[in-house]
Amino acid sequence: MAGIDVSKIKQDFPILNRVINGKRLVYLDSAATSQKPKQVIEKIKDYYENYNANIHRGIYKISEEATEAYIDSKRAASKFINSSSYNEIIYTKNATDSINLVALSWGEQNIKSGDHIMISEMEHHSNIVPWQMLAKRKGAVLDFVRVNDDLTSLDKDSLAENLDKCPKIVALTQVSNVLGTINDIRGISREAHSRGAMVLVDGAQSTPHMPVDVKDLGADFFVASSHKMLGPAGLGILYASSKVLEEMPPLIGGGDMILTVEKERSTWNTIPWKFEAGTANIEGGIGFGAAIEYLNSVGMSRIREHEKEITRYALEMIEGIKNVRAYGYPANNIKDKAGVISFTIDGVHPHDVATIFDSDGVAIRAGHHCAMPLVKSVLHLPAVSRMSFYIYNDERDVDAAVEAIKKTKTIFKKV
Ligand SMILES: Cc1ncc(COP(=O)(O)O)c(C=O)c1O
Repeated sequence: MAGIDVSKIKQDFPILNRVINGKRLVYLDSAATSQKPKQVIEKIKDYYENYNANIHRGIYKISEEATEAYIDSKRAASKFINSSSYNEIIYTKNATDSINLVALSWGEQNIKSGDHIMISEMEHHSNIVPWQMLAKRKGAVLDFVRVNDDLTSLDKDSLAENLDKCPKIVALTQVSNVLGTINDIRGISREAHSRGAMVLVDGAQSTPHMPVDVKDLGADFFVASSHKMLGPAGLGILYASSKVLEEMPPLIGGGDMILTVEKERSTWNTIPWKFEAGTANIEGGIGFGAAIEYLNSVGMSRIREHEKEITRYALEMIEGIKNVRAYGYPANNIKDKAGVISFTIDGVHPHDVATIFDSDGVAIRAGHHCAMPLVKSVLHLPAVSRMSFYIYNDERDVDAAVEAIKKTKTIFKKV
């Protein structure tokens, strides 16, 4: 498949040897969090066993080694998304934390009463709530670009209408975690910039699965989470250009983010450290570096091609099953769809679907997927079931999911 040897890759993921309810674990919930290869696990273990020390401060060997490994990870992250230098990479807790940092620091400084903030109906809560809170504090207006009637992509008229309100910031997801839609961020950011807006790209679901280039996308801010990219949890990226970061005030005060502290005042450290107060998630950063190395060794274009094939294969199968509906782009239009398939089985609650899948060892997610405005107000559903793919999934995994759909239908007598 697209030059990816999935059976070999599976061997790197110890958890895939688990047996659940007498069946091999088929993990189809990578949009929630990814599994971790032994290369990442061993890198973290190696840090704990051989050079565990705090960074920046120590003038001794193992502290220098830890500092270097942490900064190396930032260098790798910078290269991975094509930023100009690691100074433009701030490590946060996760993508959510990164968006909040922008809303609280840049937003607090730049958003005024009556300003427009533009997001869309397909955003994750983490790209809705921080803007709602900011809008409320400032008396600004939060605008939602509509999803089109066939539930595939952002509605072009609604997009144009909202851009014409000249928003101060446009914050959009590159890939929807429910529909799998890949938005045309490049085109939208060109339009947004021509009206003077800043652009924040939520790359939580794109960065793990396809080549990402913040310059090509025209992203002023870009966020992602390590745990969805084969790396450890508790570590996120915030990218912004040096110029933007220099102008933003720090959010959290404390150690490491200062240059000098006097009784009355303090001065700030250089970027990116100005935004990283207190002891960093050192093992998280080092593990994330190993995850990026692993992804690079497979190749992001190959990962994207592999997931396209798997998604097309899964959709073709699902579309052939009566009374099952998949949302977003169909099998014959996979160009702008990532490896995320939300679906429903007529007359069966999505939570029951996920429970029956689990009885066959197939892990999928059911619920509103932290996208209530999309699931409840656009799809008009209480919940959907969702399967999502990654490099360690193959056609056999899809076959197991399809069997679980058939089993569900039989149990609920929906044939
Ligand atoms: C599109 C999107 N944005 C943001 C997030 C938030 O990521 P995290 O929980 O790692 O902050 C998610 C998580 O599922 C997501 O799917």
